[in-house]
Amino acid sequence: MKGNSQKTILVTGGAGYIGSHMCVELLQTGHQVVVLDDLSNSNPKSLQAVERITQKTLTFVEGDIRDTRILTNLFETHNFSAVLHFAGLKAVGESVEHPVQYYDVNVNGTLKLVDAMAAAACKTLVFSSSATVYGIPEQMPISECSPTAAINPYGRSKLMVEEVLRDLYASDPTWRISLLRYFNPVGAHASGEIGEDPHDVPNNLMPFISQVAVGRRDQLNVFGDDYGTPDGTGVRDYIHVVDLAKGHLKALQHLADTPKLAIHNLGTGNGYSVMDAINAFERASGRKIPYQVVERRAGDAATSYADPRKANQELGWQAEYDLERMCADAWRWQSNYPNGFRD
Ligand code: NAD
Ligand code: UD1
Repeated sequence: MKGNSQKTILVTGGAGYIGSHMCVELLQTGHQVVVLDDLSNSNPKSLQAVERITQKTLTFVEGDIRDTRILTNLFETHNFSAVLHFAGLKAVGESVEHPVQYYDVNVNGTLKLVDAMAAAACKTLVFSSSATVYGIPEQMPISECSPTAAINPYGRSKLMVEEVLRDLYASDPTWRISLLRYFNPVGAHASGEIGEDPHDVPNNLMPFISQVAVGRRDQLNVFGDDYGTPDGTGVRDYIHVVDLAKGHLKALQHLADTPKLAIHNLGTGNGYSVMDAINAFERASGRKIPYQVVERRAGDAATSYADPRKANQELGWQAEYDLERMCADAWRWQSNYPNGFRD
């Protein structure tokens, strides 16, 4: 039997880092939520925490986005008003070692999803793209018009999906598609009950710093201090994950107006160096972050920060939280749960 709510949202990858924060925002704004996640990089405890935070319930289906049978069944059971598509693989180094797996999950998985959506006449989709589609950018800040040039299989899989979705919209302009290019999502929900919980050694800066702060790792490797930046370390646009989730709510509202394919950067527009991030985290945690400077990491840009004006003007969205708050919230989560959801 079809669900009767017009505001039921399918959240693929909803048990993951960004997806779980999205579920909180959706439930708190009166949506019904169905999560499809195979738990390959997450723990179902994240969803229990979402329910504790919101005092609301969601539906969880454990399964793979590439499983047509599960998708068909989901779309027959529920009357989804939109799909927020977070499910995917995201580690750059791993994508170089296992490109076929990355194309299969990220590209083929999205093809299966949009097929099932079309069959059910659910044509509103928000896709988690990434600033990685800009490759090594030449000009700052990065606007949506900046050239795209992915430089690894992960980035290419994101660009391919963007192109597939553009072609889909060109073939059928009744679709409503939002491509959100995230800059560097960090931080955690203010409750300290959900946050980033990498299964393996973190690849990204902030989760590494917070694991050093909590004593799980001895020290941080700073990948190069000879870039042409104010202190020589890499500069990025860190954005609080709750601000990011709120950007999705605004994107959904924007899609509700008229059918369209829209592209937006979600970033703060501010660039912070690795040293800025270390210093901010030390202040937030009251802990020393031991570090050593090592070689640059292959494929890293010196600087990357967004021009967020398009999202501001068209979506009426802008990030609110600063770096201090990102670190304070990340620390609350990390110090509450030093071993993440395995505690
Ligand atoms: P995450 O790994 O925490 O979440 C992804 C979720 O998808 C996980 O819960 C995982 O179990 C699930 N998943 C993976 N493969 C699946 C499959 N085949 N079927 C069903 N579920 C599957 O990652 P995240 O940081 O929350 O990222 C969410 C999305 O945002 C991803 O698409 C990622 O590429 C994109 N993104 C993330 C960042 C970032 O820095 N975190 C930046 C830009 C874009
Ligand atoms: C990385 C990915 C990018 C992806 C993004 C978000 C690479 C080459 N790029 O980007 O495709 O979209 O994550 O998931 O992997 N740093 C350290 N020490 C560390 C980790 C990072 O010094 O242990 C530095 C980096 O050199 C960089 C900054 O910290 O200057 C941020 O790194 P990270 O968090 O990995 O994000 P990106 O490099 O932007």
